[in-house]
Amino acid sequence: MSLIAEAPPKDTYIPSLPPTHTVTLTVNGTEAQLQLSPWTSLLDALREYMDLTGTKKGCDHGQCGACTVLVDGKRINSCLTLAIMQEGKSITTIEGVAQMATDAPDGLHPIQKAFIDCDAFQCGYCTPGQICSAIGLLNEGQAKTTADIRELMSGNICRCGAYTNIVQAIEEVINQQAV
Ligand code: FES
Ligand code: FES
Repeated sequence: MSLIAEAPPKDTYIPSLPPTHTVTLTVNGTEAQLQLSPWTSLLDALREYMDLTGTKKGCDHGQCGACTVLVDGKRINSCLTLAIMQEGKSITTIEGVAQMATDAPDGLHPIQKAFIDCDAFQCGYCTPGQICSAIGLLNEGQAKTTADIRELMSGNICRCGAYTNIVQAIEEVINQQAV
């Protein structure tokens, strides 16, 4: 008698495909209908289904901030929310940030310009999340000091350690707005 169990007939294992739903997302002012499994994160919907790869996947666990986007002007970790939960909201990714500064002569959001002026990146992998987070911070209006900026940006990790210049860039924009 053979000790190796015989494989059951192949048709026993026909997998059922996971159900998908139509999810309508408004990203950077454009509405899109996507067929998604209900557990698809907003991050995966943006990157894998909408080709918006500016939003980065770092940890996929809410610990690095690389995936930060704005939802109705508030910053969130897109890896920690389901796409289906964001229907009816206005989502802004790094691809849409420049659109928020339509009156800027150079077409850049002030935070983008400050990041360039202050050399606030090295590899740039964390930069989209840092910029979205900084815009969310400005919208919140809570940061009054350098220490506040550091604290309120602490959810965004930069593996290159460009923190000093990032803080300087944000501080510059806050000071400009205060004038
Ligand atoms: S990828 Fe979302 S917090 Fe790290
Ligand atoms: S610039 Fe490289 S991770 Fe921040």
